[in-house]
Amino acid sequence: MKPLPTTGRLASRMKPSEQAALKQSLQSHAPTANWLAQTNELEIELGIGNGMAILNRAQNNPKASFLGCEIYLNGLEVVHQQLQKHPQPNLKICNQDARELLQTIPPASAARILMLFPDPWPKSKHHKRRLLQPELLQLIAQALRPQGEFWLVTDWPDYAFHTIALLQNAPHFAFPQTALAAAACKVKANAQSPINHQQTLGPHHLATPPTWWIPTKYQQKAAKVGRLPWFINSLKLG
Ligand SMILES: C[S@@+](CC[C@H](N)C(=O)[O-])C[C@H]1O[C@@H](n2cnc3c(N)ncnc32)[C@H](O)[C@@H]1O
Repeated sequence: MKPLPTTGRLASRMKPSEQAALKQSLQSHAPTANWLAQTNELEIELGIGNGMAILNRAQNNPKASFLGCEIYLNGLEVVHQQLQKHPQPNLKICNQDARELLQTIPPASAARILMLFPDPWPKSKHHKRRLLQPELLQLIAQALRPQGEFWLVTDWPDYAFHTIALLQNAPHFAFPQTALAAAACKVKANAQSPINHQQTLGPHHLATPPTWWIPTKYQQKAAKVGRLPWFINSLKLG
């Protein structure tokens, strides 16, 4: 396969021998075909960072199945250490690119797919490196069961608008959120002035987290500098 273009940082502060040992040990937490065939209410998170949010959701919901992937080894080290100390059988993690992982998921098997704070690539010339592209949305649609949920959460108005524009044009998704919210997003995405989240999102439900929400590490860092999330949700048609 042609190497995939970068969507995030890969360099690790770990020595090559430590990286190799971690990769080896991660094998025991990776999803197998058998596990995938037996999942219940499968939730997949693409780009889990340090994995604490998916671990918390798996702990809160032991009857459901959780699968997270991450390309950055240092993030995986954190959740890996936790899993070594406290096994969590309904959670699988892997050091894999989201675009590759989705191609191994049995079609129509996931109840929910999440992208939480994907790398924003703010400069226009780098937008093509953003993980969410029409091709990825197509893979997400394949993996989701009918009426399955896709959530993308971002603190970057321009990424929010990018997502809404893709969803509005995607044949496999219903995008129930209002045109007004999309318009507010676009205005913010194009604005030069600092973001006033309450003013732009206050009246719209894009500002409201779902009931199962656990704040992520990136979200907490962004909140400290006043960047609040946009919760974008759509349903797979069918
Ligand atoms: C801004 S961080 C957010 C991490 C986490 N979701 C959070 O909210 O704390 C984006 C993450 O996506 C990961 N990532 C980027 N491209 C990816 C890809 N193609 N496949 C899997 N993970 C990816 C990055 O390594 C990084 O950890």
